[in-house]
Amino acid sequence: MANANNGFITGTESASEMILILDFGGQYNQLIARRVRECNVYCEVHPCTMPLEEVKKIKNLKGIIFTGGPNSVYKEDSPHYDKEVFNLGVPILGICYGCQLMAHLLGGVVEEAQGDTAREYGKTKTYFNTQCKLFKGLPEQGVTWMSHGDYMSKVPEGFELVAHSDACPNVAIADEKRGFYGTQYHPEVNHTEHGKDMLRNFLYDVCHVKGDWQMGNFCKSTVESLRNTIGPEGRVLLALSGGVDSSVLAALLAEAVGNRLTCVFVDHGLLRKNEGDEVEKAFSKWDINFVRVNAQERFLTKLKGVSDPKQKRIIIGAEFGYVFLDEAIKFDITNKDFFAQGTIYPDVIESGAGNAAQIKGHHNRLLPPEMMEKFSGVLEPLSMLFKDETRALGRELGLPDYIVNRQPFPGPGLAIRIIGDVTKEKCDILREADFIFRDEIAKAGLAGSLSQYFAVLTDTLSVGVMGDGRTYEHLLALRSVNTSDFMTADWSRIPYEVLDRASVRIVNEVPHINRICYDITSKPPATVEWE
Ligand code: XMP
Repeated sequence: MANANNGFITGTESASEMILILDFGGQYNQLIARRVRECNVYCEVHPCTMPLEEVKKIKNLKGIIFTGGPNSVYKEDSPHYDKEVFNLGVPILGICYGCQLMAHLLGGVVEEAQGDTAREYGKTKTYFNTQCKLFKGLPEQGVTWMSHGDYMSKVPEGFELVAHSDACPNVAIADEKRGFYGTQYHPEVNHTEHGKDMLRNFLYDVCHVKGDWQMGNFCKSTVESLRNTIGPEGRVLLALSGGVDSSVLAALLAEAVGNRLTCVFVDHGLLRKNEGDEVEKAFSKWDINFVRVNAQERFLTKLKGVSDPKQKRIIIGAEFGYVFLDEAIKFDITNKDFFAQGTIYPDVIESGAGNAAQIKGHHNRLLPPEMMEKFSGVLEPLSMLFKDETRALGRELGLPDYIVNRQPFPGPGLAIRIIGDVTKEKCDILREADFIFRDEIAKAGLAGSLSQYFAVLTDTLSVGVMGDGRTYEHLLALRSVNTSDFMTADWSRIPYEVLDRASVRIVNEVPHINRICYDITSKPPATVEWE
């Protein structure tokens, strides 16, 4: 494997203008990037350790945003940046810590706020100078979201105060001549009224972007660049799980190289009802090598009698590797061929690496290293897209809604939603019950408002009565959560009537279930899955 970029090929070459987000450790770094992208402008988040020389090499750099961060600029070990950045001739917006850093580096004074003055947390009434480009066309008063214990006691030369609050005279600063702006508050969070409009003003009125980051453009140019990279003879091997990311990747590659793409879809028998057929159908419109491996027997045999969830995960992961390896051997890799994987941008940012190559290095466990070596390179064309952008790209490529809007589904599938040992019979029971629950959610029009919802087959049996007879059957749990990041989650307040309809249908239509409960725990202390 001997490519530039450590053998990893991403899709970023297609951006015609770029905003650099330098990350100083703030919790909202991804959010800033998402907001910028929502304004149709391409941006990338890089750690604040990115050397200035690298910044200078960025083609089409239109502006820089310094993010917030937990430090104090006057402390010695706090992250700083090369002052030369202010001589690049591109506008800079500093947010919270980024604002203080800008002030500090340009000769202002930042101090720890004393008492209540100028130290602000949470929603704060703020007054704006609407003559300033950042606030152009916006109301003169509004609420901003603050989170700072330091304040600027002296602003740098050339800067004006352009916003203030009741407690703090310098909530935002601007040097309009040089295009430098700083806000103590976070325009990227929803609590800041018109925050996104302020970012839009920075992008369009200060950085003068065209705003051509749109999925249609990305799709066209990425298909083209994939064709160039793969060449006229190269083939591509992809493990397709049926989830959003790998499906969109498969569609993109199908568009780029048609039947030189081989998708290996392993049906381990632990999928939801109809899922295997749905995935296969979604790809029938492309002329690709779609290999569906029906490996249900193989997986169920390995899982026989295993109750420990960790053990189940290990067995399924290992078996998946063996099945995929068998297919990779048949593929007969040459040095013109590529391996593709569906890394998306949050995977990249969350690793803190800001560099796709370093992250997926350790994800590449699907095939042994000596096999990976045989490929010409690894393609990761989605590695700069957020989840919603990945979905938009899927729509652009004509993937059906049932794939594009698919909720998250764990790799080990139903095996971790069956508590205790896994059998074909239990999988079938759970598949039916889960299908009915999802069907009732869809009929009630709730699908779009819930983050994830599914059924769990517990290993508890309880007494019931059906007709004239006593039953002793499974307890089924229904689970639904609302969350933005799956790190924490709240249980969904599904209307009783909907739960009732699902419950009545499940006990009537699915044999071996005689009792149903609804999980009303949040995460933490529970997790989303039961395992
Ligand atoms: P937990 O149960 O940890 O789940 O609160 C958080 C989210 O992760 C999903 N999940 C997985 N996704 N492979 C995946 O791709 C897995 O092995 C896996 N296990 C859990 C879970 O469904 C939820 O969305």
